[in-house]
Amino acid sequence: MVPIDLSGKIALVTGVGDNEGFAWFIAKTLQAAGCRLIFACHPRVYTIVESILTREQDAESRILPYGAGMLHVEKLVACDVRFDTMQDVDEQTRNDRRYQRFGDYSIQGLIDLISREYGALDILIHSVAFSPEIRKIQLETSRQAYLTALSVSAYSLTGLLQRAWPLMKDRPDGASAVALTYLGGERVVPHYGGGMSAAKAALQIDARQLAQNLGKYNIRVNLISAGPYASRAARAIGDINQMIEYAAQRSPLPRAIRPEEVAHAVLFLCSPLASAITGQILYVDCGYNVMGV
Ligand SMILES: NC(=O)c1ccc[n+]([C@@H]2O[C@H](COP(=O)([O-])OP(=O)(O)OC[C@H]3O[C@@H](n4cnc5c(N)ncnc54)[C@H](O)[C@@H]3O)[C@@H](O)[C@H]2O)c1
Repeated sequence: MVPIDLSGKIALVTGVGDNEGFAWFIAKTLQAAGCRLIFACHPRVYTIVESILTREQDAESRILPYGAGMLHVEKLVACDVRFDTMQDVDEQTRNDRRYQRFGDYSIQGLIDLISREYGALDILIHSVAFSPEIRKIQLETSRQAYLTALSVSAYSLTGLLQRAWPLMKDRPDGASAVALTYLGGERVVPHYGGGMSAAKAALQIDARQLAQNLGKYNIRVNLISAGPYASRAARAIGDINQMIEYAAQRSPLPRAIRPEEVAHAVLFLCSPLASAITGQILYVDCGYNVMGV
């Protein structure tokens, strides 16, 4: 038997917003393999995530796969990835009551906390994306929404790794960062608007640049390009069920993907089995990306 044993490895999972998104399934699978978990979530969904992690009615969603017990998250940290440091926070956000209960909700604050309390980081999962104009086609996208999409969905990977790499440097078995991308960053998916397609294209080359920058520290950076899945963010696109059905009909494996399948691929990329794999995009899309028609 080939074991995937990540016992004791420290994993930061960003982009946890509920128990349906990819981040949730990724976290559960990493923990089933032995990881200790730190969650980072948008300050506005902190209370929701906190209650999903504790309340009885969500207990079933906390069951780990492979009979590995129940999900246990050591730290839940509020972090808005628009802000590298608290100096970057705009007036409106500063005055937003939903943010005021958190001291430092910047990327720097998140990484400082991990540095103080853990002193190391083995795995970083980037599962964050947002555009305020996701429903607008490229032609109608405003500059502001475009830049927000790039800032939140692409630059944040750089902002996180810029600060986290010293904690990830030369870890036993090496460290691994995995981000989620989508085919809409490479091909035209008309409804993937509001700058999101540009953000995914940027994320893809950024991940490759970062793989080169960080390889000397034995930090690997890879991407999963997932097929369409009806998460909260994807439902905001509007026609996600149509996209899922369309892809399912045309994929070599003629069905929709399951979030667990994305989580399995992430686990592989974070494991020593992928020790020579960096700067890659692994498509978890039932093969849809190979099709010409
Ligand atoms: N669902 C799909 O069809 C699909 C396909 C391919 C790739 N992806 C990617 O997977 C990743 C996860 O998305 P998902 O589909 O699981 O949806 P999701 O809604 O569960 O995850 C997106 C997360 O981003 C967080 N977020 C948004 N703005 C933020 C900010 N400023 N600071 C911190 N967090 C912020 C949200 O709170 C949410 O938790 C995204 O990168 C998405 O683009 C999704």
